[in-house]
Amino acid sequence: MTNKKNPGDLTEVLSAAEKIYRPSKKIISQANVKDYEGVLKQAAKDPLAFWAEAAEELEWFKPWHKIIDISHKPFYKWFTGAKCNLAYNALDRHVKSKIKNKIAILWEDETGRSRSYTYLELYHEVNQLANALRRQGLKKGDRIAIYLPNLPEIAIAMLASVKIGAVHSVVYAGYSAMALAERIKDAKAKILFTADGSFRRGKAVYLKEIADQALKECKTVKRVVVVKNSQAKIKLNPQIDIWYHDFIKHEPTEAACAEMDAEDPAFVLYTSGTTAKPKGIVHVHGGYMVGVFRTIKWVFDLKGEEIFWCTADPGWITGHSYIIYGPLMAGITTLMYEGVPDLPQPDRIWRIIEKYKVNILYTAPTLIRAMMKYGTSWPAKYKLASLRLLGTVGEPINPEAWKWYYKYVGKNRCPIMDTWWQTETGMHLITPLPVTPLKAGSVAKPFPGIIADVVDKKGRSVPAGKGGFLVIKNPWPSMVRTVFNDPARYVKTYWREIKGRYFTGDVAYRDRDGYYWIQGRTDDVLKIAGHRIGPAEVESAFVSHHKVAEAAVIGLPDAVKGEVIKAFIILKQSVSPSEDLKGELKAQVRKTLGPMAVIKEIAFVDKLPKTRSGKIMRRVLKAEELGLPTGDTSALAS
Ligand code: PRX
Repeated sequence: MTNKKNPGDLTEVLSAAEKIYRPSKKIISQANVKDYEGVLKQAAKDPLAFWAEAAEELEWFKPWHKIIDISHKPFYKWFTGAKCNLAYNALDRHVKSKIKNKIAILWEDETGRSRSYTYLELYHEVNQLANALRRQGLKKGDRIAIYLPNLPEIAIAMLASVKIGAVHSVVYAGYSAMALAERIKDAKAKILFTADGSFRRGKAVYLKEIADQALKECKTVKRVVVVKNSQAKIKLNPQIDIWYHDFIKHEPTEAACAEMDAEDPAFVLYTSGTTAKPKGIVHVHGGYMVGVFRTIKWVFDLKGEEIFWCTADPGWITGHSYIIYGPLMAGITTLMYEGVPDLPQPDRIWRIIEKYKVNILYTAPTLIRAMMKYGTSWPAKYKLASLRLLGTVGEPINPEAWKWYYKYVGKNRCPIMDTWWQTETGMHLITPLPVTPLKAGSVAKPFPGIIADVVDKKGRSVPAGKGGFLVIKNPWPSMVRTVFNDPARYVKTYWREIKGRYFTGDVAYRDRDGYYWIQGRTDDVLKIAGHRIGPAEVESAFVSHHKVAEAAVIGLPDAVKGEVIKAFIILKQSVSPSEDLKGELKAQVRKTLGPMAVIKEIAFVDKLPKTRSGKIMRRVLKAEELGLPTGDTSALAS
């Protein structure tokens, strides 16, 4: 669970005598990487050679001159001079082999509907859509906004966009109209993909209505392509809207792949930071495909025959890298489930694993903790023998949840890959491999080729057992290239805090065996059920209510979701606090940001702790709330 640290207040962490979970002989004998320590050492000696070797496993239209160009650091460039395409590696190249008849996507939704696509079928449909996009006038570099639920069409839209060299911006379908509009405007998207509706917890969500509301403010969007996914009776405006099936209907099933420069952007994905404006994280074709391909193959030990289920949503980076691009590049079957894990009853996850004979389950600690609450009788009813490996991501996992996952899901035989990474890193950076001895709750060691460190404010390594800032010391291929439209923000956010190091924003410690333990964020960024939410975004949602003068939000520990939000509100003069008003304010945040920004508690206050320059000191609020020392308060205004 998240345990935020005050950056100036690095504490000694007692290292408990942990149990080591060693891989079985079977796991070791099957593993793609058997000599873990040897591979780490070799890659550390020459990370560039390591990544060049990884890149050679993919197809390039033209080879690179240089593996890395550091002349404009921190704007690193990888595989310079090379030509390639991410979608070509995810799809086109498989159609030349027998993989073409394999199932690429298996899909099921909450209501029990299911569909599947072979690689060849997926390739044909992506080509049809690529042709339709070109006919629409879309070209290299144009931005395509995608606001779709977890449907095969989201993958198809992403792949078609990348295939023609456009840049997709997927906006999680749980975001509100305002959040969608903000992202479309920043990216200046020319086209939007959405659906008529979807279901969540049995309730219809009318996405097209939300999209229409967002588009009132977005002048750049000239076409809206609508996937028919529900029985919702919606009106299309023939000037701008078109059904997805009509859009692709007469298009040929072959389409040329755009030859992209390795450094051309493939997508932008917005994520939250400390300010109210989300950052457009830019990822490129070449380096991204190398990093994601190498990590999925090594961390999940892929052989080519797996049924892989990542329970994230394609709207987040986990979905981009490990539902869509990673599994497809590896030529395996990716399972997409559009729905919640406990409908119609809390066995849905286990039922799906049995039904599709899932080999690898990659999920989030929040989901594991929610399943724990329902009890072991649910997984016990199902045959989970197909599982070979487990994974977790997105937030720290508490040892108790780790052990439950290991025992009741993995039946003491499936190693758990606790993968630490970020929207910005594109791929896993600190993670075990299947042969790594595991400790419950630790993300083990940096992936081969990655050099991490735990440092103090001045960038000096701190000794084992001491908490500090988690930094990455060398560039990696799938790293964020810039913040869309804001290169200065890229430099300031990631490269200014600790000179010459990539600043992750996380606090961690390393134990005597070199294992990393992630303790949470150094900033006030919230992690609610693994979703990254900026406190300033929530505060500005509150302040947009006419009765609110000021707001501050903090995350409080929660046994299931990791964190929940508590808000401190100063009301405008002459406004009286009431329970009804609390309900109104909660609804306001939901309307502004979307349903994932759930406010657990609201307190009406007269004053907020602030620095002399007027910045709210959220950590003081948090410390007071949790009964902890407030740390350095010298900046606090009296
Ligand atoms: O705090 C870390 C936490 O999630 C943050 C990144 O969030 P986001 O960009 O939304 O990406 C999530 C999925 C990759 C990190 O800064 N985090 C991610 N993975 C872990 C984690 N914390 C602990 N353990 C992890 N395995």
